[in-house]
Order: sequence, then C-alpha cells, then structure tokens
Amino acid sequence: MGFRERHGIVDLGVGVGARVPHYETIFGETPAMDWFEIISENFLGDGGRALEQLDKLRHAYRVIPHGVSLALGSVEPPSADYLRRLRALVDRIAPPWFSDHLCWGRVDGMDLHDLLPMPMTQAAVAHVADRIKQVQDAIGRPFALENVSSYLTYRESTMPEWAFLTEVAERADCGLLFDVNNAYVSARNHGFDAATYVDYVPAHRVVQMHLAGHTDMGKYILDTHSDHVCDPVWDLYRRAVGRFGAVSTLVEWDENIPAWEVLSQEAARARGLRREVLAASPATVKVQP
Ligand SMILES: [Fe+2]
Repeated sequence: MGFRERHGIVDLGVGVGARVPHYETIFGETPAMDWFEIISENFLGDGGRALEQLDKLRHAYRVIPHGVSLALGSVEPPSADYLRRLRALVDRIAPPWFSDHLCWGRVDGMDLHDLLPMPMTQAAVAHVADRIKQVQDAIGRPFALENVSSYLTYRESTMPEWAFLTEVAERADCGLLFDVNNAYVSARNHGFDAATYVDYVPAHRVVQMHLAGHTDMGKYILDTHSDHVCDPVWDLYRRAVGRFGAVSTLVEWDENIPAWEVLSQEAARARGLRREVLAASPATVKVQP
C-alpha cells in the first residue's frame, strides 16, 4: 500500500499561500479557493492576532502548515521549544500532513535563515532520515519533505538529487512535497534533466506539489517566487500530474505579490491543466472524494 493510501491522504485541489496583502480579500469576501498553505513560523506564538486570523482561515478553508526552520540536514536537531510550538500549531489545524525542506541551515546554535542544499551521500541519507523519523514522531502526523532549489553542488556527492530525495523518503518513510519549480531551477543551474527527476521519484509518496515563478539571471536561475509560473515549469507540471495523479497543488508567490485576482488566476490555470492531463490519461492514482 502506498504512502498516500496508507495515511488516507486525499487530493485537496489547487490552493495558494495565505499572504498578508490578501487577508482583506480572503477574510472580507471568502473567495473561492481550494485550500491555503501557511508558513508555520508565522503562527508559533502563544496567542494573539496571528492565531485569531488562522482560526478564521481554518473556519472557511482547508489549511496546511509549511515550515522553513526544521533544517533537517543540520547536525543540531531543532530545539525542543520549536517542536513543541510546531506540535501545538499542527494539533490546532489537524492537517493531513505538514511539510518542510530537505536542507540544512543551523550551525553552532545559529539559524542561518536559508534552505541550504545537502551533500548527497549515504551518510547524509541516514542522518536526515533519522531526523525526519524523530520529527514525525514528535509532531504525530505524516511529514512531507520538499526538494529545494540550489546554486551549488558538493564534490562529495555520490548520487543525483532525485536518488537522494527518494532514498531519504524511503528510509524515513515520509511523504514528498515535490516542488516542480525547484526541480526546474536546480536542473537548469546544474545541467541535469528535470524530466528524469519527475520520472524517478516514488509517485505514491507525493502528497503535494509546489508551483512558483523564478527569475532568470542569465547564467543561473534564482528561485524568487516573484512572478508567474513559466512555460517550461507548466510543461514539467503536466508531466508530474501525469505521473503522480491528482495531487494537491499549491501556487507560491512571495515577492512582488500581485492582486488576489492574478494569484487566483494562476491557481485556476493549474486547475485547468490538471483537469486536462487527468482526463486525457487516467492517472496512476484516482481522484479521491
Ligand atoms: Fe516550494
């Protein structure tokens, strides 16, 4: 039985990140949107306005927490306080999964506030997989691991990124948040084939996908989340939907945040494309009610 089936994880449709510039529209008009993703770290306080807004959001929509601070690849584990607060947030929302990234970002007690890529080695697989198991136990819900975009590689790496992500997920027995844009950005930056990435990862573990825009800097691509999703990423998404089936998808837009209508249309485009692909080729996984 696959990961999604084992954990009863269903397709939520296509959502967007809940961002402050849209709060007035979201809370004032309750616009149609399949679901929202929140950045966990913005809601780890003991109370106050942020949690009040979260409760309002939850009342009207499905909400999934997405973190940026677990730094699973770091030698130092996340603090007990962070895990306690994350658990409280996750318990409050009761989501089908929570997510964070395959990266490191903490050293000597200092949080670098960056999603730094890992050396892709067997030792790193063992380290991250153990850390994920600990986190999954501490939070008590299925975890989805996201592939990051990167701008450097390590001489020590012994496997391609898709094999590294897959080995970690298999060993940790966790889910995957497949970021289509990140796969594209890293493929362009490092000269590998993004389609191979999509074709390799275990489809049954993919519980969510991310779509985002990036900035082409000429010699490399920067993952800015500041623009529309570009055509090659839409093409890759098409391939991903064909392989992974009806998987919850989220459009990320964090810089130059556009009007709600623009973001909503980007989600609608993903929804339309998804429908088209699933209708044309019966997906590997059925759409679940
Ligand atoms: Fe992402």
